[in-house]
Parts: sequence; C-alpha cells; structure tokens
Amino acid sequence: MLTLRGGPRRGNSLSKIGLMKDGAVLVCGDKIVAVGPRAHVERRAEAKSAEKIDVGGRVVLPGFVDSHTHLIHATSRAEEYELKIQGKSYEEIARKGGGILNSVKKLRAATKEALKRRALAALGEFAAYGTTTVEAKSGYGLDAANELRILQLQRELAQEQPLEIVSTFLGAHVVPAEYRGKSGGAEKYLELLMEQVLPDVVLNDLAEYCDVFCDRGAFTVRQSKKLLTKAKEHGLRPRLHAEQLSRTGATQLGVELEAASCDHLELVNDSDIRALAKSDTVATLLPGCDFHLGWKQYAPARRLIEAGVIVGLATDFNPGTSPTMSMPMILSLACTQLRMTPAEAIAAATINGAYALGRERTVGSLEAEKQADLAVYEVEDYREIPYYFGMNLCWMTMKRGLIVYMKD
Ligand code: NIG
Ligand code: FE
Repeated sequence: MLTLRGGPRRGNSLSKIGLMKDGAVLVCGDKIVAVGPRAHVERRAEAKSAEKIDVGGRVVLPGFVDSHTHLIHATSRAEEYELKIQGKSYEEIARKGGGILNSVKKLRAATKEALKRRALAALGEFAAYGTTTVEAKSGYGLDAANELRILQLQRELAQEQPLEIVSTFLGAHVVPAEYRGKSGGAEKYLELLMEQVLPDVVLNDLAEYCDVFCDRGAFTVRQSKKLLTKAKEHGLRPRLHAEQLSRTGATQLGVELEAASCDHLELVNDSDIRALAKSDTVATLLPGCDFHLGWKQYAPARRLIEAGVIVGLATDFNPGTSPTMSMPMILSLACTQLRMTPAEAIAAATINGAYALGRERTVGSLEAEKQADLAVYEVEDYREIPYYFGMNLCWMTMKRGLIVYMKD
C-alpha cells in the first residue's frame, strides 16, 4: 500500500510515498476511518462488522487527482492529428482556424445531450484508470452562453456521476473568431469576459478557478493579469497555461498572483524556476501533450524538483494536444521522458495534484478522516504502474467508499 501521508511534497520529499506491506484501509460510509498494518486495522472495533475486500497482494494507492483537463468538448480532432504527422505545426493549424477554434465551432453546434454523453463516457474512462478527482475547464464555448453551458454541464455531471469535478473558467482560452481581425478585438473579448461572463459564473457559483492560456497566439501577460486580477477580486483563484509554445513570463505572473498552479512549462527558464521554488504555486507538468504532438522538448522536471518546486502531473485531457484519460500513461511518460522516479511521479499525480486543486485536506492520500478514494492496481510492485504502458492494470477504483470501477 502507498499511503502518500502528509501534505504536498517538494524536493527530496517528493519521493516519500508511505510504502507499507500488508496494509489495510478501514472505510465507513464515504470516509477512511483507519489506515495501517492489516493486523492493527483488523483489531479495531469498527472492523469486526466490516465487509472485507481482499485485494490479494495487489497494490493500493490513493485515487489519482487529475488537476488539468478540458473535459467537455464535442469531438476528437483526428483530422488535425494526421496533418501534424505530415509536418504541419500545432500553431500553423491554429492560425488557419483549426485547433481550439475548430473545437469551439463543434461545441457550439453540439446538443447538451451529445456533450453530456461524451463527458460521461470520458469520466467512466478516468475511473477505469484509477482517477477519482478531475479538474475540468470550460474554454471551447468562448461566448457567454456556451461558456456558461459548459460550466453548468460540469455541475450537473458532478451531481449525477460519482467522480468529483473541480470547475475552472477558461473563457480566455483564445480570442474567438468573431473578435479577430479587428483592432482591439482581444481587448473587447476580455471586456465581455470581465463584465458579463465572470459575474455570471460567480453569481451562479459555477467555478472555483479562473485559467488563461497565456501564450503566443492566445493572450499576453498583460491581458492575462487584467483578467486574473479581476477573477481574484471575485473570489476565483488563478491558474495559468504557461510557457508551452513560447516563454512569455506567464509563470512569474502566476507566482505574483499566487496562482494555484502554472501548467505545461516546457520553456521555463532559471528565473521562472527560482520564482516557483519560493512560492506555493504548483508546477503541473503535462507530458501527454509533448508525446501526442511529437515534440522532443519536455518540461525540465529534474531542475524543477531539485530547485524545490511543488511538481504535479496531469493528463491535460483535450482533443488538440492530449487525448488521454490515462494517468498511468502520464506516469510512464513522466518516468521515461521527464526522468522522474516512479515514486515521484505517483506523489505528483496524487497528493500534489490534490494540493493544486485546494483539496489536499480531503483527497490525495490514504489517511483517517479523508475521503475513501482509492485505486487498486494489478501489480506486485508499485513501480510496475508506470513500468507497463499502453495497457490498463487498474483492478478496482473506489470513490467516497463506493466501488466505481471493477475489472471483470
Ligand atoms: O492545454 N494550450 C492550450 N490548451 C490546450 C490545448 C487545447 C486544444 O488544442 O484544444 C492544452 O494544451
Ligand atoms: Fe490545457
């Protein structure tokens, strides 16, 4: 069993996973009552009448906390995948109206039922790989009605299926087509977000976080600061897509605004790393993007860890750069491409992911009083979770004490 006990990790402590042989977890209702050596847990009075699930030597760990996804979108972008393989770049495709704007067009035309069906299927898949908490961003609506429609659907999904969904408002994903090609178009769109959409999001309690894609072809640092400052005044904590396509200074802005996380970070420099190390902002790495886009440059995970930054890992599930719900695949990439150890990768995808979502008191580790969120893997050694790839070794997933996935 890996308990991941304790708070968020940085530096050497990232590899502390609380490994225990022959452990047991006692669950009552939706919470963990006790965690420890099996003999010890079995002696507890509440254990006498408990139903016993013998996991038969498998590995038990906290359910993964996926702190960066674009859950709601209408379709894949398989046609762009083929173009990318033929040599067109992600940014080139985006400039021609593909990319995010392609997904926006499709989402606006999709019915709520279709979006819901697709999101439910995706959530089932997240659960099947051992993920129990999922952050979800809007950002394929890019007008007041559709951004709100996405966030409302996220709320509905949170109520109607077992996984926990943490909502982020990403109205500032890119400038929508109808605001392009006019001078001051981006500013006008930001004004719409700040004056109309944001107040509605807050009034209806539709999001906890506000994110901006702060990069070349999306929003500048100055524009991002304006929106995130306003969001913060409204009680939404900032997070940022930072230093993915170009080095803009988005990370420094994130630290300045006490953002919950700065995500991607392929192109961070030494001063960005120093700023992150001094802060409580999580550096969420998304190696699925680099893998899917066929990029050779991954984020400098070792330098981030060694500098003492709180490093997290997430899927970035989205149709353009990372179409996967598989956290174990992300762990495999973290190990082989980011040179993180299996222990570091698991801590980054559980307790540090929970911290990135402000959920470190309720999820991300196996500890008494926390939610009974756990994943059981069909392996003998926890290192086999990233070691095997392209196959699903998850045996069982539990969310708030309910079995939400069981291998047949
Ligand atoms: O996290 N970088 C910006 N947003 C997404 C990609 C979205 C898309 O291409 O649809 C990301 O990589
Ligand atoms: Fe993203």
